[in-house]
This record gives sequence, C-alpha cells and structure tokens, in this order.
Amino acid sequence: MELEQIKSQSEEAESAALAALNAAATVSELERLKPEILGKKCPLRQLMKLLGQLDAHLRPAAGAIINEAVSRVERAYQDRLDHLREAELEKRLIEEKIDISLPPSFKATGTLHPLTLTVREIERIFVSMGYEVATGPEVETEYYNFDALNIPPEHPARDMHDTFFLAPGTILRTHTSPVQIRYMRTHKPPIAIIAPGRVFRVDDIDATHSPVFHQVEGLLVDVDVSFAHLKGTLTEFLHAMFGKDLATRFRPSYFPFTEPSAEVDVQCFACRGTNAECRICKGTGWIEVLGSGMVHPKVLENVGLNPKEVSGFAFGLGVERFAMLRYGITNIRNFYENDLRFLRQFQQRW
Ligand code: PHE
Repeated sequence: MELEQIKSQSEEAESAALAALNAAATVSELERLKPEILGKKCPLRQLMKLLGQLDAHLRPAAGAIINEAVSRVERAYQDRLDHLREAELEKRLIEEKIDISLPPSFKATGTLHPLTLTVREIERIFVSMGYEVATGPEVETEYYNFDALNIPPEHPARDMHDTFFLAPGTILRTHTSPVQIRYMRTHKPPIAIIAPGRVFRVDDIDATHSPVFHQVEGLLVDVDVSFAHLKGTLTEFLHAMFGKDLATRFRPSYFPFTEPSAEVDVQCFACRGTNAECRICKGTGWIEVLGSGMVHPKVLENVGLNPKEVSGFAFGLGVERFAMLRYGITNIRNFYENDLRFLRQFQQRW
C-alpha cells in the first residue's frame, strides 16, 4: 500500500463528508448526519485501519493526512451548524414578528370630560388626606336644601327665581350642602367627606353662569375642630391644586350654615398681582375659589349633634370655575356643548 492511495482515499472520504454536510438544509438534518461523517465509524476515521498495511516510516505522514482531513470536516461541520442555526433564528424572527405600529382595529375610545378630570383631581387630593367621597340626590326636599342648613324661609335664595321647584317642598338642589345634612344624620363623627355633584339654579346662561353646574362640598366633624384645621386643610388643597408657592387669603363672609364664614382666595397664578389688566384675576391679584366656614351650631343641632361636644368645618367650591382656571377656559358653555374639537383637547392626565 502506498501513501498516495491513503491520500486519495482520504480526499474522497473528506469530499463526500463535506458534500453531505453542505447538503444538510436544517440543523436537525445536519445533527443526524454527524455520526455518519464524524463518528467513530465514519469512512474517514476508518482509513486509520489501513495504516497497518503501510511501511512503518510512512505511517506518521499518513496518520497526519487523515487527522488533518478530520479536522477540516469538523471545522466545516461547525461552520455549517452555525450558519444553519443563524438562518433558522433569522427565519423565526421574521415569521414571529409583530408589527406594533399597526393601528388597532377597534375605534379609539373617548377622553374624560374636563369637569370629570377636575372632580377626580379634587377627589384624589382629599382622599389622600383621609376623606371619603359621598353623594346625595339631585332632587331634594326644601328641608335638606334649606331648613336643616339654617337658611330661613325669607332667605333670598329660596326665591322662585333662584330655585327650581318641582312640587311643593320638592326642588332641584341649589348646592351640594344638603349632603352634609344627609351624611351627618346617618354617620357619627369623626366625619370627613367630600361630596361632588350637580346643582341647579334659575339663572341665565352667560360666559360664567349656567343653570346647571357642579360643586364639591366638604365636611369635617370631630372633637375640637378649629378654624385652624379649616385653614390648614384648604391651604394644603389649594397648593396641591394650583401650586405650592401661591399665597391664599381668607376673607370674612356670611353663609347661614357656617359661623364664622370665610371666602377663600388664591393668589392669581397667571400674574401674581403684577398685571392690572390680567384677564384671570381682573387685575386684583386674587382669585376667589371657595366658600367655607365652621359648621353652625344650629346645623349640628338639626342633625342631633351636640355643638358643645363636636365641631366641624365645611366648604363648597364650583367645579366649572376650577376647571376654567385649571385649563384656561373662558366660556362655561364649552363644557356643555359636546363639541368634540373642544373635548378632545383634554386627555386624561392623571
Ligand atoms: N353651599 C355654598 C354655596 O353654594 C358654599 C358653601 C359650602 C359655603 C359649605 C360654606 C360651607 O355657595
């Protein structure tokens, strides 16, 4: 046997192995081929058995020829494996690709109304201070809307021109304050609630008035509640709503159901009192935002509480006014006309 014969048989076996592995089209096909082309009994390694038929001095060279051929087939096998794996991964990535840029097939949902957004923000702030959200009916009795709140029969708010009467003694509530009465009649102090809702007043519609609008009522009743609590709570609220650096101002005022009473102003966030022609504060530097006061002893008595044992504060605010200030809306009609070009400007922001 000659070295040349070994060499040509090795070349033959090598090219057969290379052809086979190059013909493998998938990773699993290639892996199935492995014993056949690189296994212990593969034709290339089988050639080692022929070495005995060579002269002893030719054997190392012949062995080297076969070993080198095996190494090349091993390298080619690994290259082919890498290539097929990569190609298969690529194919999978393309097949499994999800085009997230495609618009959804369903219709876009709407956005929350600016009044809803404003009420939610107010609720969020008070709930964070431990308040609960309460509600009451829009169709009210004169008793809850007026009498229980210490509003005497001759009070001008009872006038036919301010109140929508549905039947004798039955009205559309003119404010959310009756919720105070309903809640105190059914719950014992400590009480801390806010009550958002719709209210109704006979009023001509103009840029800042509407016969239907929204209020948020607040009520806190406990032992030893003082005006300082009212002031601290409302200042905290207004800072959260309009900005921490704005001053607040409490002005003496009058409501039949609170004593003492205060109207609350917040420093104009637009001009801070520096612009005599400011459209937001009309040059005053202050914006009136709340009515408030200590719950009148008569009101506590009307719900069976002893004013000597408990005290409380209450407040009321107009949601439209807050929303107009918050979003820079100048005409209240925008809230009710349902013009989508207006409504779509208010994406949920919290
Ligand atoms: N109910 C009052 C109004 O509608 C606001 C208010 C509520 C004032 C609670 C004081 C306390 O004007």
